Amino acid sequence: MMVEIRALLSSDANAVVARIADQLANDAEYHPLVNGFVDRDALYETILRAHNATWVAYEDEQLVGHLYGAVLSDTTHPRAAWTGPDGVSFDTEHELSVLVERASAAWLAADASRHYVWVLAEESRLDSWRTLGYAALSVRGVMRLADREPRPVPEGFTLRDATLEDMDRILDLDEIIDVAQGDTVGLGAKDRDETRKEITSLLDDPEVRHFVIESAHDVVAQAITFLLPSRRGSFEHTLYLSEVAVDPTVQGRGVASAMIDAILERAQGDGFRYAEAQWRVTNPQADSFWRGYGLVPTYVRLERTLR
Ligand SMILES: CC(C)(COP(=O)(O)OP(=O)(O)OC[C@H]1O[C@@H](n2cnc3c(N)ncnc32)[C@H](O)[C@@H]1OP(=O)(O)O)[C@@H](O)C(=O)NCCC(=O)NCCS
Repeated sequence: MMVEIRALLSSDANAVVARIADQLANDAEYHPLVNGFVDRDALYETILRAHNATWVAYEDEQLVGHLYGAVLSDTTHPRAAWTGPDGVSFDTEHELSVLVERASAAWLAADASRHYVWVLAEESRLDSWRTLGYAALSVRGVMRLADREPRPVPEGFTLRDATLEDMDRILDLDEIIDVAQGDTVGLGAKDRDETRKEITSLLDDPEVRHFVIESAHDVVAQAITFLLPSRRGSFEHTLYLSEVAVDPTVQGRGVASAMIDAILERAQGDGFRYAEAQWRVTNPQADSFWRGYGLVPTYVRLERTLR
């Protein structure tokens, strides 16, 4: 059967909403840490606004798939097209491949060099994209705070809020993350002055908490946390954990586990119900740390080079 691709028309929006809502409901059933909630009216409006970045697939006059990809650029990424968990639906790999082919031509014309897509962490879904040349970049992991098993902070280590006086150690710890993530050259690499400015503004930001762990009057670990803004597939009341690093001299002694424990204990008291983090698939320390801690991958970010 011939699959036809065209730009989304307003008359397609209802059918696209129904496909997304069904898919998210299925995802949530498959994966209890995925939030399947969809506000259909809001989604309908979003889809209409995004009509010039959305393609739909028709077969036998039936809508059989859609693909949305916004072309964005920021300081850490080259110009790229981004697709979230609600940005794509398809019934067969053939439909996906013709949708991607059509959208890729438009993304290239808009000067994007890559396409990133968040895909449910489920092998057959991931395979559909791998077949098209996509490869995993990072993972989104989630845990329910009620499922936590508290452990005490190890002897001699204390958790406290970071201050400007910790700046030099924070910069050291940030470099440890850059090295672990392979961000020491190219676009990902930041210089210390730039990072210093970012940290100063984060320390000032009432929405963000910057924690450090102190041992023998030295800062040996850090983590940054904030309320995760609403996003498709994630739950409300989710604490986002970021910039987690432990000085190599004390790694492997339970410091990160205990730090995250203490942070999540407080977060639970503050009404948070979930925790989320993101890590690169190329960072084995982070991968085994977060999985071992209890975060379960919900979505995988895949990437394909467009040119
Ligand atoms: C990931 C990191 C924060 C873990 O800190 P840590 O204090 O060493 O972790 P813990 O001692 O609490 O270890 C808990 C688990 O993490 C995993 N882990 C820790 N170090 C590891 C290593 N070198 N290699 C593989 N797994 C490791 C293990 O599963 C370990 O469980 P186990 O002790 O039962 O074997 C630390 O290795 C680090 O700072 N890495 C560099 C920065 C980084 O990658 N940050 C994460 C960015 S998303």
